[in-house]
Amino acid sequence: MEGRRYLLVCRNIDCRGRGSDELMAAIKKGLDERGVEDIEVKEYMCFGACHEAPNIVLHPSRHWYAAVKPGDVKAILDHLCGGPAVERLMNKIDPTHREFIFQLLDAGLF
Ligand code: FES
Repeated sequence: MEGRRYLLVCRNIDCRGRGSDELMAAIKKGLDERGVEDIEVKEYMCFGACHEAPNIVLHPSRHWYAAVKPGDVKAILDHLCGGPAVERLMNKIDPTHREFIFQLLDAGLF
């Protein structure tokens, strides 16, 4: 598993209600099209930041993308392929809460 990257998509009520299923499908398709094989796209039960749905978190790089829209998918894919992080989607979540979730993920709870 060393070196493996994860893209976690929340699929609880608020995130799904704002399109996380479609985002997850578009990201998976985009990764396939780009031939990216070292990223596992997984669903997550809830990041506890439902007010900023849909939420996508990258592990272990600790990027949290909030209030993601379909139009953001290309920039996220670019980031996953070595481009810059998508700053406009970051820093919307309380830093203490963000750190709590990152620590859960670091501990393997996903
Ligand atoms: S429903 Fe997605 S963060 Fe809670």
